[in-house]
Order: sequence, then C-alpha cells, then structure tokens
Amino acid sequence: MEKLWGGRFEGPSEAWIDAFGASISFDQKLAAQDITGSLAHVAMLAKTKILTENEAAQITAGLESLQKKLADGELTFTIEDEDIHLNIEKYLHDEIGPVAGKLHTARSRNDQVATDMHLYLKETVKAVIEQIHSFRHVLVKKAEANIETLMPGYTHLQHAQPISFAHHMMAYYGMLTRDQERFIESLKRIDISPLGCAALAGTTFPIDRAYSAELMGFSAIYENSLDGVSDRDFILEFLSNSSILMMHLSRFCEEIILWCSHEFQFVELTDTFSTGSSIMPQKKNPDMAELVRGKTGRVYGNLFSLLTILKGLPLAYNKDLQEDKEGMFDTADTILASLNIMSGMVETMALNQDKMAQATEKDFSNATELADYLANKGMPFRQAHEIVGKLVLACTKQGIYLQDVPLEDYQALSLLIEADIYQALASKTAVERRHSYGGTGFNQIKAAIARSKKTLENERTGKK
Ligand code: ARG
Repeated sequence: MEKLWGGRFEGPSEAWIDAFGASISFDQKLAAQDITGSLAHVAMLAKTKILTENEAAQITAGLESLQKKLADGELTFTIEDEDIHLNIEKYLHDEIGPVAGKLHTARSRNDQVATDMHLYLKETVKAVIEQIHSFRHVLVKKAEANIETLMPGYTHLQHAQPISFAHHMMAYYGMLTRDQERFIESLKRIDISPLGCAALAGTTFPIDRAYSAELMGFSAIYENSLDGVSDRDFILEFLSNSSILMMHLSRFCEEIILWCSHEFQFVELTDTFSTGSSIMPQKKNPDMAELVRGKTGRVYGNLFSLLTILKGLPLAYNKDLQEDKEGMFDTADTILASLNIMSGMVETMALNQDKMAQATEKDFSNATELADYLANKGMPFRQAHEIVGKLVLACTKQGIYLQDVPLEDYQALSLLIEADIYQALASKTAVERRHSYGGTGFNQIKAAIARSKKTLENERTGKK
C-alpha cells in the first residue's frame, strides 16, 4: 500500500515495522479533534487566499461528511495509514478526490498532532473540573448532615483530640478545591494553538494563525514555532495535577477502608460499592475504594513516563513524542472514573455514629481539655501538661480514663479543679469549644459549610 509520504522511498515497507511505528490503535481517540483542526485550517487557507473558495468548499464539505460518518460510527482505521492524521486524509481523498491533497498546505503533522492534543485536553480538563465540583458538593452535603457527629481525630494514627466528622469531610473539600483550582489554572497553558507552527520553522505561505486559533476557540497562539510543535508541558501539567488529585483520593480511600474494618466499624458502604469473597461468606470488601487507591499507581506512572520521554529530547519534534498519548488518555479515563466512584461511594456511605462517638469516650483524647482547663485558670500550660501527663500514666496503670477520676483525687492534684471538670472532659464539649478560625467547633464548621456552599453556587452560576 502506498504511503502518503512515499515519494522519497524505493523499497516496500514491512508490516511488522509499520506496526511498531503506528499510533492509530490509540490516537484514533483524536479523530474528532483532528477534523475540527482541519476545518479551521482549511477556512484559514481560504481566508488568506492560499486556496480558492471552490477548493476550500470542497474540502470543507468532505471533512463535514467525515465528521458525520465518524459520529455514526462508520469510520474504521487501518494500521497501513499509521496514525489518525493520515487515516483521515486518506478518507478525505476517498470523499473528494485529489483536491484533498491541498489540505496539507502550510501544515505538518507536527503542528497537527499538537493541535489535536490541545483540543482534546481542553475538553477533558473542563470535564474533570465539573466532576471535582460535583464531588465537592457531595462532601459539603455529607458534612452538613454530620456537624455533631463526633469521631476521634488522629495524629500518628493515634487518638489525638475529638473532632466533628463534618470537619474531616471539609478537610477533603479543601484538598479537592485546590485540585480544581490547579486544573482551572492549567487551562491557560492548554488553551494555546500550535497550528501554523508547521513542521518546526513556520511556513512561507501567508497564513493567519490567529484566525485558525479563533475558529478552534483557542485564546492564544504559540509565540515560537519550535516550542509550539515540541511543547508537551501542558500534558505534563495535566499528569502532575492528576497525580496530586489521585493522591488525595487515595488518602481518602485508605481512611474509608480503615473505617470499614471490624476494628473501626465507623462506616458501612452500600452493597453497590462493595464485593463479596468467593470463599468467605461473611465478607463485604471495600473493593472500589481499594481500586481507586490502587489506580493512583498508574497515574503516577504516566507522569513519570512522560517526564522521562521528554528529558533528553532535542528540539523540535521527535517521534518519541508519539509516546505522550496513551498515558494521557489513560490518566483522563482513570481520574474521571475515580471521581465518579468517589462521589457515589461517599454520598451513600452510612455512618455508625454510636461507634464513632464511643471511640472518643474510651480514650485519653480529652487530655488536652484538662491541660487547657488548668491553663485557663492561670497555671502555666507547660506545668499543666506535666501534671496531666503524670495523671494519664497513673490512669493507664489503673485501667481508668480521665472522666473516671474522682473529684477528690483531682483536687488533691490541684485545687484549681472543680466539679465542672467532667463537663469539660466530655468529647462533645471538647469539639464544641474549638472556636478558633478553621477549627472543629460546631460554629466554625457551620460557617465553613456556609462559605463553601456559596463558593459552589458561584462556580455553578459562573460568578466569581
Ligand atoms: N503519530 C505522530 C505522533 O503521534 C504524529 C506526528 C508525526 N510526525 C512526524 N513527523 N512523523 O506524534
């Protein structure tokens, strides 16, 4: 079969070499973007009179017909035509004959493929932003329903201080908000047109790059043609932002998995998000959470893969760059699916509020309350810390907790302690009183939820 670039070649190509060089098995995902780019290119060629109106009209009609056939699933692609650009061009020949050969005037596959990737990622990142937004909405709803649900707050995975479950959800809201911001900020660097950079050096034809960029909906054009065809930073940034996002989801999944364990029993996932065991009849496994945690690995891998591909590349285009696509597609599919799973899983997970509250009672997570109580009455905090530490040690030896210590023992320790100490030691009081900005106090959480709801609403209606 004759190659579109075959003029300079004498010998026939070999199928196994073609198979190694071809990208059509994966870059056919860019078919729609490739046609969009070509439609803008031909319109520009007409406007600048590089092609006649008649030629451009024929090419446009041919491309539009292909656009329809693609949507109807009528286009199949072949490895002989190497990649999506040559496959589409072949089809255009079949549609309109030799005039199809004029489409590639003042263009190269190098700026063409970069354009396709920019178009693809722009759409994809917008979809990712929408999904993160929905997940943040789920987190806020879950928080709002659980303002007074108490749980142990941890450091070093040891009980530290009691907190509100809503506060925990809102911490993830904060992480996901930063993720969304990162994707939004990255759009600025995705929304740039490389079309017209041609192979590497620009072109002798009087093209109008701003016009084709505008037709494709891009806000800017690359300033340097070498940079335009060889830049893949925008993909790296996507993979990097995706890695941070997945790291956040993975941390959340790790907690959900712990919370589902028999030792915790803080939450129960619905059957939809759980699976059973083929041998142990009692099992209900949090597989979906484990999978999101596990899929984080491939997203990190895709980032490392592209960083490595790029590190030794001389300017401008090198065929190595063909390796940029599978990781990008895989990452996009993975993060979109993971966000979807997380939204459903978190929205429907049931909380065992009694277990969570109990976990804050049979422990020493109120030790700070006692120290703060003494400090409030004038004792230097360091001294209070020392006294309470000793008391905790004594309690541990007796197998009791701070709330079990009789008042006379407390008063033997310090006359600053009065009967209201037991109220101060209750987990609910401990949480409620943490009024400092951003703390777990109920009023703070309510304020944080109110702010977030406003933010989400403004995002939805496009207000800043
Ligand atoms: N399939 C190629 C890629 O994905 C398209 C660009 C090919 N350009 C070239 N000069 N061989 O990168």
